[in-house]
Amino acid sequence: MRRRLFEPGRRVGDLTARLIGLSGQDRARRRQAMVRLGVLATVMVLVLSLVGPVLAQDGGRPYTQTDPKSPEGLQIQDLYKLIFWMGLVVFVFVQFLIVYTAMRFKRNRSHTQRPNQIHGHRTLEITWTVVPAIVLLIIAVPTISTIYSTYAAADDTDDAIVVEIYGKQWWWEVHYAAPGTDDVTGGENDLVITANEVRIPEDQKVVFKLYSNNVIHSFWVPEMTGKMDVIPGHERRLSFTPQESGTYYGECAEFCGTAHAWMRFIVKVQPQAEFDAWMTAMRQPPGPTTAAFAPDGDVARTPTEFGRCLLCHNITGTQAQGAAVGITTDPTSNNAGPNLTLLACRDTLAAGLLENTPENLALWLLNPGHVKEGNYMYAVQAGVKNQDDQEGALAPEEVGVLVAYLESLRPEAGCPEAGTERGNMNTGEVAANAQPIELPVPGGPPATPAAATPEAVAGAVPGTSGTVLLEGIDINWTQKELTVPVGGTIEMWNAGAAPHNFAIEGYNDDAPVDLPLSGEHIMWTVPADLEPGTYVFYCEIPGHRAAGMEGTITITAP
Ligand code: CUA
Repeated sequence: MRRRLFEPGRRVGDLTARLIGLSGQDRARRRQAMVRLGVLATVMVLVLSLVGPVLAQDGGRPYTQTDPKSPEGLQIQDLYKLIFWMGLVVFVFVQFLIVYTAMRFKRNRSHTQRPNQIHGHRTLEITWTVVPAIVLLIIAVPTISTIYSTYAAADDTDDAIVVEIYGKQWWWEVHYAAPGTDDVTGGENDLVITANEVRIPEDQKVVFKLYSNNVIHSFWVPEMTGKMDVIPGHERRLSFTPQESGTYYGECAEFCGTAHAWMRFIVKVQPQAEFDAWMTAMRQPPGPTTAAFAPDGDVARTPTEFGRCLLCHNITGTQAQGAAVGITTDPTSNNAGPNLTLLACRDTLAAGLLENTPENLALWLLNPGHVKEGNYMYAVQAGVKNQDDQEGALAPEEVGVLVAYLESLRPEAGCPEAGTERGNMNTGEVAANAQPIELPVPGGPPATPAAATPEAVAGAVPGTSGTVLLEGIDINWTQKELTVPVGGTIEMWNAGAAPHNFAIEGYNDDAPVDLPLSGEHIMWTVPADLEPGTYVFYCEIPGHRAAGMEGTITITAP
């Protein structure tokens, strides 16, 4: 009986001995091996305890949650500590019971019979039900109170600055309210719109209102406080009071599609004066270097090459006005793409993916689909979703002008916080997609506009004899000067992806000729009531004329 009972245990012991290379009898060597194991474990514990503080040093852990820089984060941290220590007590107690039981009730040589088998023990069962219940209660009370006080803090916008955050695929739009108001959505109070970089003053409570009109994202600045899901159709709130100036990393913490991993942002906590300087700069037109790229040296205007960008991007202080494309239900969040105001002053491009340098900007503009897979800029720019199809992409010359223009988007006196270090959010790894590109000298003159005569397109799209050709493409006219007699014909069409129409100033401003997106050619006969003379013609779609979609038309006698 006894032999049969303990036979399996002995076999396991023999097996273990064989596995570690010992014969069953070699107890001395086995003991030696155990001592070695013990020494190894001790060394590892020592090494880890030495490495830990090194890892804990400032700047080494941009995603750490155990060293919060805000009282709200500390509140969560306190709760975490309470649960950790209670968990530790439970762990030690349970381990003690296991070891004690194993030692105390160990079989020894005097035991010849199975121990007394029992079933059910009321006192024990009540104890191990009540004790965990008490433990859970001790955890529940501060947990619930922390949850409610966190929410209450986010609901209270007195003495807070309010920042609205819109989660997009895959970047963040940031809106600031006017000082002294908490109404960011009011339109005129919506002072500043930027993207992927949140600036907040030090020691100032900030309340984030979080929105999405697409999928669920999650707003997370690990060094500040917890995460908050950003849910379509709901306003979620998060608040914290950053207590140390510095650059903090944030990212989307909810899988939201192809480029979720590259939906990062930077939180810059600055002294109040620096923050104010930035807010001021964001509300002013860019400096005079920008004028070199505008058609007539006017800072408020944008270069012709920027025309197609206007479908999605805005720049405060210029006439760049992205189309409201219904990407959101919020009227002020009408940017399909990031607002580009003071782009030159940002640390990163493409939501934390690239360091903001002219080379990276060119790389991005040339082929956004290769730099950041799945992004919608690629789809809009190339008109296709196939990552390898380059048709319709920007030409290198256009990219050169755009890079020089975008690099000029900075205040005359320089970016508001010279000296702040550039972001280093693992931006190196995308360089594998780099393609060499010849950049024009930054600040140089804008490239010559596209062909300005009808003949230039005549080969590609033959016009009927005796007619004048007019092509609308991107946000531009291919021809800027037309001459046509009364009774003559203008053959016009839309070769781009944005809607256009044709109006002659002072003649048919209210009833422009529509150029269908189908590309269908419209034959327009110059009516007899249009007096001979020189007129301005333009596209009446809001923003297009300002973006350079105008020219002169000379009407001659029949
Ligand atoms: Cu947005 Cu993940």
